[in-house]
Amino acid sequence: MDKLVLLGGRSLEGEVAISGSKNTALPLMSAAMLVDGVSTLYNVPRLRDIYTYSNVLRVTGAHVHYDPETRTMHIDASRVGHFEAPYELVKKMRASFYILGALLGRFGRARVSLPGGCAWGPRPVNLHLEGFRALGAEISLDRGYVVARAPASGLRGARIRFEPPSVGATVNVLLAAVLARGTTRLENAAMEPDVVCFGEALNRMGARISGLGTPVLEIEGVPELQPLLAHTPPDRIELGTYMIAAAMTRGRVRLLQAEPAHLGDFLEIFRQTGARVEVGPDWIYVEGPEVIQPVSIQTAVYPGFPTDLQAQWTAMMTQADGDSTVTDTIYFDRFKHVPELLRMGAQIEVVGNRAHIRGRTRLIGAQVMSTDLRGSVSLVLAGLVAEGRTDVLRVYHLDRGYEALEVKLSALGADIRREQYEEFGTVVLPLEEEEQM
Ligand code: EPU
Repeated sequence: MDKLVLLGGRSLEGEVAISGSKNTALPLMSAAMLVDGVSTLYNVPRLRDIYTYSNVLRVTGAHVHYDPETRTMHIDASRVGHFEAPYELVKKMRASFYILGALLGRFGRARVSLPGGCAWGPRPVNLHLEGFRALGAEISLDRGYVVARAPASGLRGARIRFEPPSVGATVNVLLAAVLARGTTRLENAAMEPDVVCFGEALNRMGARISGLGTPVLEIEGVPELQPLLAHTPPDRIELGTYMIAAAMTRGRVRLLQAEPAHLGDFLEIFRQTGARVEVGPDWIYVEGPEVIQPVSIQTAVYPGFPTDLQAQWTAMMTQADGDSTVTDTIYFDRFKHVPELLRMGAQIEVVGNRAHIRGRTRLIGAQVMSTDLRGSVSLVLAGLVAEGRTDVLRVYHLDRGYEALEVKLSALGADIRREQYEEFGTVVLPLEEEEQM
């Protein structure tokens, strides 16, 4: 298994390019499953989650070719004939559940493993299933699998309200609704850029969705779609993570191939730390402040502060000149990184869904491990400013969502390398081998 080994204390300096967005690429790959023909996706990030989902598509009979050098993916969904996604794949990545909306929408049937809980809580899919039911699908549970069937006359448009707004349910129900008969109205739909880019791609395929970027979407069903040609937009969470890395290390970093408009409120909140930020059309320059101001945040749906950046913010706030709080209103238990940060010397108390962070504390390198993607990267950020050596174990969590993290941080001057180590009982394949599964 791989770990990252860091020696802390260096300021990050230089330029680095942001990769394509994981959470947009996954819906785009799902959209390609709706058509008989070859779709092409550009700027698909080289990530474990992308390989996992490619394998989900292959199980159905789709042909998926991904070139990690050019980051180009071709998906030929002409020969899909198996309408199932097995537990072995879905358990690795919850977004595999998107295959349900795609298969139900196009073929009227699917059998997909129910995702279990995740590292930080239950994460239900009730809103996805209620949406499919509203479209007329019959949904049942069979030995841990969701079995969905459209009526003989096909899915039909319906009025559906999400409470709370859900990125996943909005994507999944859109996949099923674009080919349904009649009009579907989604209320309290997700407004995240990932959803908007996905909806725009569907429209370019011939779908008729209006209201993208607002809480109310109207979808007029169409009989068929054209293959997809799409460029995956830059990853806004990767961008925010590097902005935090630059500020924490008092660095000077220019982030290229970025989409600042997708940061929502994060940009202004980030400025409150005292960091100097310049924004161009497709780049962001960050100069870390001498003294990081403590800034309390509360996560919210877009354009609010993203839950996917709260762990990184927590790490940064250990270095702020005063105390702060981080409150997660989306996931109430997303604090698995906190006990690991404590092992490095942080002083954080979690009460309910709020972390109280003492600033500024001296961090000292240690062996640490988190059980999720964003938590793990917060430990890397802590390692960048800690005294001495930090070993971040189980890097496969990071490989799910950060492309070449150690390569990019090294290019900015960090002392970080990937090493192999033995951990009894857990087998994780390298990315290339995973692809061949
Ligand atoms: N929810 C329900 N029922 C549902 C679905 C969601 O109650 O059927 C609740 C959730 O429990 C949560 C809230 O709704 O409290 C919002 O969850 P959402 O469905 O929006 O999350 P998701 O679609 O499962 C995506 C991202 C996550 C990100 C969340 C929130 C992808 C593949 N995943 O998850 O990204 O944290 O939105 O923005 O897009 C990550 O990249 O590290 C990651 C976890």
